[in-house]
Amino acid sequence: MSGTLLRTARLDVRRWRDADAPRVLDLHSRPEVVRWLGDDVAPMRTLQQACERIAGDNGVADRPGRGHWAVEVRESGVVAGSVMLVGLPGEAELVQIGWHLHPDCTGRGYAREAAAAVLEHGLRQLPEVLALTHLDNYPSQRVALAIGMVDAGLTERWYAGPSRLFRAAP
Ligand SMILES: CC(C)(COP(=O)(O)OP(=O)(O)OC[C@H]1O[C@@H](n2cnc3c(N)ncnc32)[C@H](O)[C@@H]1OP(=O)(O)O)[C@@H](O)C(=O)NCCC(=O)NCCS
Repeated sequence: MSGTLLRTARLDVRRWRDADAPRVLDLHSRPEVVRWLGDDVAPMRTLQQACERIAGDNGVADRPGRGHWAVEVRESGVVAGSVMLVGLPGEAELVQIGWHLHPDCTGRGYAREAAAAVLEHGLRQLPEVLALTHLDNYPSQRVALAIGMVDAGLTERWYAGPSRLFRAAP
């Protein structure tokens, strides 16, 4: 389908659509999701914010090796969450991979399946991809390790407080 970046065994990694707005709002309005996403990210409140988010996330793909995509379960058409390759705060030439799932889609391997494909895509165009997690975000750390990233220890370089850093190179 047009706008599809990658197909994995179960998932389509694709551009966001306006029709995804209710799902985006459902995902980003959840404190249990946004508490892990950077410094003091406020939960989303309105469909208008979701539409703006969709436009912004689709706009990330304006540089090689960057993008912020929806992860759709092909069999059901449900958007499980998102995977992204985005610049680090204040150092946009450095790219981090990230992921988040709606709680109704965790525990099925969707994050690592989508992230593995997106990491491979990124490393075709980038010299290195990083990932940063809160120290106690063990589900996210398991995703990073499962897709072959290497634990590079703790850093306070990009976010307030310590993060655990993961690296991958071609
Ligand atoms: C981080 C996050 C995406 C991880 O989700 P997840 O469901 O644990 O990760 P996956 O989709 O890769 O699923 C892996 C789990 O599914 C299980 N699983 C079930 N079926 C599977 C399959 N077919 N293949 C692989 N794993 C499968 C695995 O055993 C694993 O569980 P475990 O870690 O308890 O062993 C999710 O917790 C989340 O969105 N959190 C909030 C946002 C967030 O923290 N984002 C990251 C910021 S750094």
